[in-house]
Amino acid sequence: MKVLVVGGGGREHALAWKLSQGAQVDRVFVAPGNAGTASDAENVDIADGDIPALVKFAQDNQIGLAVVGPEAPLAAGAVDAFAAAKIPAFGPSRQAAELEASKVFCKNLLRHADVPTADFRTFTSASAAEKYVQSRDDLPVVVKADGLAAGKGVIVCSNRDEALEAVRRIAVDREFADAGTQLVIEERLIGQEASVLALTDGRAIVTLPAAQDHKPAYDGDRGPNTGGMGAYSPTPLVSDELIRTIEERVLVPTVHQMKRSRRPFRGVLYAGLMITNSGLKVLEYNVRFGDPECQPLMMRLNSNLAELLLACAEGRLEDAPPPQWDPRPAVCVVMASEGYPGSYPKGLPIRGLDDAAAVPDVKVFHAGTALKDGQVVTNGGRVLGVTGLGDSIAKAKLAAYSAVKCIRWEGAWCRKDIADKALA
Ligand code: AMP
Ligand code: GLY
Repeated sequence: MKVLVVGGGGREHALAWKLSQGAQVDRVFVAPGNAGTASDAENVDIADGDIPALVKFAQDNQIGLAVVGPEAPLAAGAVDAFAAAKIPAFGPSRQAAELEASKVFCKNLLRHADVPTADFRTFTSASAAEKYVQSRDDLPVVVKADGLAAGKGVIVCSNRDEALEAVRRIAVDREFADAGTQLVIEERLIGQEASVLALTDGRAIVTLPAAQDHKPAYDGDRGPNTGGMGAYSPTPLVSDELIRTIEERVLVPTVHQMKRSRRPFRGVLYAGLMITNSGLKVLEYNVRFGDPECQPLMMRLNSNLAELLLACAEGRLEDAPPPQWDPRPAVCVVMASEGYPGSYPKGLPIRGLDDAAAVPDVKVFHAGTALKDGQVVTNGGRVLGVTGLGDSIAKAKLAAYSAVKCIRWEGAWCRKDIADKALA
C-alpha cells in the first residue's frame, strides 16, 4: 500500500516514520514534508492547502491511505475531497472539524453533551461582549476568538480591564481577522493541563496514553505562548482511573453528540484538559494529533499505525487489534530558532544531526527544516523535536537532552525543563 501524509511539521515526520514501518506499506509520501521526511519517506512538492492537487496526486499514484496532519486542510474539507475521489482518508470531515475550527460550536456541543467545561457565554458583537464584561464581577476570564488563529486567539485575562482589551483586540481591531467574528468569554480555570488523544471511527474509541505539552516559550512556563516547546508521555498527572473517567465523561459523550448532530467524528479527537480542584474540564478540542504530543506517542507505539488509521478511516476500528505501547516513557524537546515565537531567520545550516542520531533510544524528528544544496537548514520557528525513550521519565529526558547537546546552529535554543512537572 502507498500512503500520503499531508503536512510538513514534526507531527507529520513522526507519523510518516511510524507509517513506513507498517508491514503492508510500500511507500510513504509527504506533502510538502521537510528535510526529515525526505530521508524517512518521499517528499511531494504540493502545499498542504492545495486540496485539488493533493487529490490528483493520490489518484495518479494509487494512494491507499491519506493521513491529514494539520487542522487547516481538515477544516477546509481535505478528507471530504479524498472521500469523494474514493481514497480512504484518516481525519474528520469539514463539518466534524468544526469542533476545533469553531470554539462557539465546540462549547455548545460540550454543553449539550453535558461534558464538564468552563462556564461560558458566546457573542457576535464587540458591544454585547463589552457590556457583559462590565456587568459581571471583576473576575479572571478567558476571551477566545471563535475561529482558527494558529493558537493565538486565546487571551487569558486577570481582570476586567484586560478582558475589555482582549475583546477590543479580537472584535474591534480584528487582530485574528474573520476568526474574531464571534467570541467566547469563559471563566478562567486553575489547574494542571494534560492532553488526552483518542482514535475513533465515529463509534469505537481507542484512547491513547496521556501526554503533557509545554506551551509557554521559556522555562517555568514563562514567556509568550508557542505551538508547544516539548511534550512527554505518559504523564503521572493522568492515572488509569482518570483515563476511564475521561472516556466516560468526555470522549464517549462527545463522539455520541457528534453523531447525533449528523457530524460523525472520525480521526483523532484530542481533548485539551485542565485538572482543577473541582474536577476535570475540557479546555478545547483539537481534531488531529497534537504537535509535539504526536512525537512521544509515535516513539512509544509498537503497533502497525497504517492498519490502525485505515481501520478508523473505513469504520472498522472495533475489529482492529488494540495498539501496543512501549512501557518506557518518551520525552520530546523542541529546538527552536532565535526569535520564535516572534520573527526568526531561516536557512541557517544545522550541524551535528548524525551525532544526535547515534545517541541510543533517540529519534530526531524534523519540523521546520529544509534541504539546501544537500545541507539541512532551518526553515521554521520550531525546527526539531528531539525525542528520547528511557526506563523512567528522568532517563528519557536525559536521552533527549544528550542528543540536543550534539546539535547546533546559530541562535538555536530549547526549554531545559521539559517533563520536569512529572519529576516534581
Ligand atoms: P485553547 O486553545 O483553548 O486550548 O487555549 C490555549 C491555552 O489557553 C490553554 O492551553 C490554556 O493554557 C489556556 N486556557 C484556555 N482556556 C482556559 C480557561 N478557561 N482557563 C484557564 N486557561 C485557559
Ligand atoms: N500541542 C498543541 C497542539 O498541537 O495544538
